[in-house]
Amino acid sequence: MNDIERHDYDVVVVGAGGAGLRAAIEAHARGARTAVVCKSLLGKAHTVMAEGGIAAALANVWKEDNWKVHFRDTMRGGKLLNNWRMAQLHAQEAPDRVLELEEWGALFDRTKDGLILQRDFGGHRYARLAHVGDRTGLEMIRTLQDHVVAQGIDVFMECTVRHLLKDGDRVSGAIGYWRQTGKLVAFAAKAVVLATGGVGKAWKITSNSWEYTGDGIAMALEAGADLIDMEMTQFHPTGMVWPPSVRGLLVTEGVRGDGGTLKNKSGERFMFKYIPDFFRADTADTEREADAWYEDKRNNRRTPDLLPRDEVARAINSEVKAGRGTEHGGVFLDIASRRPADYIRRRLPSMYHQFKELADVDITKEAMEIGPTLHYIMGGIRVDPDTEATTLPGLYAAGEVAAGMHGANRLGGNSLSDLLVFGRRAGLAAADLAKRTPSVRIDDAQIGAYADRLAEPFQRSGNENPYQVQADLQETMHDLVGIIRTKSELEEALVRLERLRARAARVRVSGTRRYNPGWHLALDLDNLIGVSEAVARSALLREESRGGHTREDFPKPDPEWGKRNVVVRQRDGRLELATEPIPSVPDELRGLIGEDKPTGQVATGAPAAVGGTS
Ligand code: FUM
Repeated sequence: MNDIERHDYDVVVVGAGGAGLRAAIEAHARGARTAVVCKSLLGKAHTVMAEGGIAAALANVWKEDNWKVHFRDTMRGGKLLNNWRMAQLHAQEAPDRVLELEEWGALFDRTKDGLILQRDFGGHRYARLAHVGDRTGLEMIRTLQDHVVAQGIDVFMECTVRHLLKDGDRVSGAIGYWRQTGKLVAFAAKAVVLATGGVGKAWKITSNSWEYTGDGIAMALEAGADLIDMEMTQFHPTGMVWPPSVRGLLVTEGVRGDGGTLKNKSGERFMFKYIPDFFRADTADTEREADAWYEDKRNNRRTPDLLPRDEVARAINSEVKAGRGTEHGGVFLDIASRRPADYIRRRLPSMYHQFKELADVDITKEAMEIGPTLHYIMGGIRVDPDTEATTLPGLYAAGEVAAGMHGANRLGGNSLSDLLVFGRRAGLAAADLAKRTPSVRIDDAQIGAYADRLAEPFQRSGNENPYQVQADLQETMHDLVGIIRTKSELEEALVRLERLRARAARVRVSGTRRYNPGWHLALDLDNLIGVSEAVARSALLREESRGGHTREDFPKPDPEWGKRNVVVRQRDGRLELATEPIPSVPDELRGLIGEDKPTGQVATGAPAAVGGTS
């Protein structure tokens, strides 16, 4: 116990992506003694994978845009499962957060008049994504990181937080380890903000990097917080498919926003076959209408290449399943035949280099080969919409780790604005709580018990390899909890997850605690498997198709399910599931959304006109 390094703060923020950094800035500004703890190097966060832009109704390109239209688009894109209050706050506050970022030094692309330029993205009625070429997330992280450093906020880098500490029912800190030395470190905190992102590394094909193992979700669950909507996972339609070493790497939606179109191996622009009724009034029915929209955006009928992500990912999946995919199991994304080379290089510099360097493809001359990649989870920790307080006193959550804002499907670009709006709100509320809290206690017995658990992988008698267990988990989630789900496959997934859990308990690591990635992964496996189980159980319970959750055996949205969240809790080490009503949208906001129920979703994304499944 004497070896354990200890720190004492008002607010500890776990995670240094956009939400974590913004939360820390706010907490610090409100006078709280604040620390940021991050698993990776500062600046390396999944935020940078939101490349194409940050959604905010600045109305620089379209004067008609305003928060009400943004709210409407977000709710419709989320298939009305969103927490309406979060969607409202997000739409109202996003413009201020973008302008603030600019004040702090972010250099956005400009209109001819010198305003922040905005580009088109899927499901957004107007071009509303403020951007920096195709490196927007990177610019956002750079700006926030500079600000954190300039404010003198303490940062603990390469330090993995593994468990929350509790003082009675409230969260009072956290314990983890330094990745380099393996030494344990405990933080006492009057408030903890989780901003740890998602769990992409449970799937085989993902845009997420090694850090995204569901840590925050798992810690909150273990400490007794509620999760909601865990079945709602997002497959971004466009990840690289070739070569195998880069499969899943993100290809920004900005390619389609700037004019790129999707084609199958016969050159057919297949998206016209997959327009759901819910979006038909907004979407072009013919290539001529879609092209007219690209050339003259006053035309109200948008291209179906820019339908929300769930619709496009299902459509690609159907084309590939029907044998109309490319050699490597994707479809084509073509901007070369639609935009001049200098335009492509200027607007999409990272995509140009990514394909040139990694796939030897010149996107100014050739089409890209792309396919869906697990990018995001809409589900996560249940939070109060105004304060981001979880159901556990002393614990807050913001960004991807929190749920509610995006409902059943997130619109591209809404993540970056989500991080800023709710990161700020979480930091504010956490600092406020800290002010009202004279002190918290951290319990040595709890620290000792967690220290023993952290040491366990060195003491086990099994011979399982953590990398093999993770690879088998990824195969399971890819094959059985992917874009299209069925009861029997989800049940099979749960059986396999149970076996994987038993195998993870037999992972034995050798060597010392000094930089030992095998040990780190052995610990991460518990989180990966636990969160995967929450996803699979929730997916089994929700017997309908909605947004990122498509059940082949229940191919339509069900209005009754559309009124309910699936809630997951852990009690006595076991997951308990329930459904609870989602807060109902007040009448004045309901009027903004239009139709009150999504219709026409077909499980495999096969064209509604031809029906059936493939
Ligand atoms: O496609 C993209 O640039 C990703 C954006 C996002 O996930 O918000």
